[in-house]
Amino acid sequence: MNQASIQDLKNRIDAANKRSKMSQEENIKLARDAFLSAERVVVFTGAGISAESGIATFRDPETGALWSRFNPDMFSSMSGFLDDPGLVWEWKDALTEKVRKTKPNKGHEAIARMGDLKEVAVVTQNIDDLHERAGSQKVLHLHGDMTVRCTVCDWTEQHHTVDNCPECKALTRPNVVWFGEMLDDGILTEAQRLIIEADLVIVVGTSMRVEPAASLPTFAKRLISINTRPEDHGRLAIQAITLTGKAGEILPQLLND
Ligand code: OAD
Repeated sequence: MNQASIQDLKNRIDAANKRSKMSQEENIKLARDAFLSAERVVVFTGAGISAESGIATFRDPETGALWSRFNPDMFSSMSGFLDDPGLVWEWKDALTEKVRKTKPNKGHEAIARMGDLKEVAVVTQNIDDLHERAGSQKVLHLHGDMTVRCTVCDWTEQHHTVDNCPECKALTRPNVVWFGEMLDDGILTEAQRLIIEADLVIVVGTSMRVEPAASLPTFAKRLISINTRPEDHGRLAIQAITLTGKAGEILPQLLND
């Protein structure tokens, strides 16, 4: 590390220490000012943004923790799928049904309203369509979406209605990124570009445990982190204005509500 980067790190640690002594109200004001002065904003979301709509998260014990109840090797990997495609589809269809029946919450709605004021892109790890239904215009899904595709050819469909591809007869699969699979290169590159070019990145409701998604916010010039668990601000804490609480309560406050 050269002298300039050591100084930069010291400055960031000083700023983080100062922020940690500030009240949540002062930090919200800081975050609101950061939002108001930004032109291009990326909102980077994880399962926590949808928790207040009743969708379970993957690791948060307070909000469902899917991966402590269901083995990800079984339900989120190609080998698990090939062992028992019917079981994986049954599980996935139940989750999809739950998403269809629920509605966007105040957090999704605040993010959509941000788009009326600024150039906003949403980069989400979620496969649900709650950002779109709330009205966000530009949404990139890093880990796939609710559509269905063929395991072999290019066939895709909106809903799971057939188990075998009408084109090539191979198995159909959920259009999600399973463990051990690569993210779509085009989507990842576009997300990285948007984050690098943004004046502000707002990270909401993610435990930041899954790569490469978790590394994307570290490219941000300026960061806000919103999470119910203080420990889950994690490595962002040194750079970010950290706001601890529910997304649906904090995000509207950044819009001066
Ligand atoms: P996690 O379940 O790992 O983390 C959810 C985060 O949301 C936790 O940090 C919670 O503290 C926080 N949280 C819960 N309720 C909240 C609320 N109302 N407001 C704000 N924060 C809240 O979910 P992700 O980080 O999204 O990947 O998980 C990343 C990836 O792991 C998922 O996309 C999925 C999973 O395996 C794939 O399926 C490929």
